[in-house]
Amino acid sequence: MRSDAYTLSFPVWVEFGTDVSEGVGPILDSKGWQRPMVVTDPGIIDAGLLDGIERSLESAGIEYVVYDGVEPNPTTAMVEEATELLEAEGCDAIVAVGGGSVLDVGKGASLLATNPGSISDYEVTSGQEVCAGPIDRHTLPLITIPTTAGTGSEVDYWAVITDEDREFKMAIGQPPLSPGGPYLGAEVALVDPALTASLPPRQTAATGFDAFSHALEIHVSAVSPPIVRPFTRHVLGLVPEYLPQAYEGGDPEARKRMLFGSHVAGICENLGGFGAIHSLAEATGGMYPEIPHGEAIAAYTPSVMEYNSQAVPERYAEVAAAMGVEVSGRTDEAAAREAITAVERLIERVDLPSGLRELGVAEDDLPVIARKATETIEIHDNPRAADGEDLLEIARNAY
Ligand SMILES: [Fe+2]
Repeated sequence: MRSDAYTLSFPVWVEFGTDVSEGVGPILDSKGWQRPMVVTDPGIIDAGLLDGIERSLESAGIEYVVYDGVEPNPTTAMVEEATELLEAEGCDAIVAVGGGSVLDVGKGASLLATNPGSISDYEVTSGQEVCAGPIDRHTLPLITIPTTAGTGSEVDYWAVITDEDREFKMAIGQPPLSPGGPYLGAEVALVDPALTASLPPRQTAATGFDAFSHALEIHVSAVSPPIVRPFTRHVLGLVPEYLPQAYEGGDPEARKRMLFGSHVAGICENLGGFGAIHSLAEATGGMYPEIPHGEAIAAYTPSVMEYNSQAVPERYAEVAAAMGVEVSGRTDEAAAREAITAVERLIERVDLPSGLRELGVAEDDLPVIARKATETIEIHDNPRAADGEDLLEIARNAY
């Protein structure tokens, strides 16, 4: 395929701005899915975010079971537990309600419900051609309902699941490899900004910055086709404008814009690649499951930008312009430096950690993190080649 060619496959039915509590029961009913398993976590239940969804299911006469064992940085054990429950209960669909961790466990269970083996059999490994995954049977129908503006997992073909034995976050993923073919992901995504309204400031900042990093990495990635850039530019402008307002709470318009941005970045994930930011953050999250993904992302972003911008300053000049920085009359290199400064300001503005030390990462672990980062699939998409030594240097700069 020519380097500027692309394939677009988009089987997910999306309703953005829908009232989920109105929609979910009738959608299941219209599809003939009569016994769903709701996958969620205790925080979602405590925040009352399941209430409207349960009412909707009940008024449609749909009996459901709830799996609420998901924790941040979800593991193979959680996917197996959820799969066992849905098999024991004879469920015919999954409704995943939560942040990225919940949606990814929903995806994992939907995969194992219809395909043989364990979740690690479906890992897309480093060196393997990306998206050559062996999912050959349609996954169990999945409805995704995000409650954070960050992951984009409601529409993308990826799940990140930690293999506890290896302390490694596996990338599980597959787009439809032929028209109508099986894929990992939702059949229906219901995206309702009201469900993000009660997210506390710290999680709002971390998940919102994660969405920004998706647009950033996809924008500069070596493997992204040009079609993504109008979309990534939009998200790169939208997050700096609205994340501070969403972080301070209250503003429904800012919440809505942030959810739209994370959602658009999620769509772009199906077209483009990531890079060293996610590579290093996933390697760190595998070893430190208590660190929220978005906080690890924030810690690495400026150092990775510094490293990459030497190879593709023109892309980072575009990032600066998208973020609203005045770049006319500047060289690409100067504009790229402005992009890094603007990102550092955004991180500071929403009180995200400025380095790994602040996150409690041991300095002695940096060599292991750098080595594990070389084993991620994301590193192959980075715009500048980076080996273990380079990644260690980046990690030291991010400390
Ligand atoms: Fe991410």
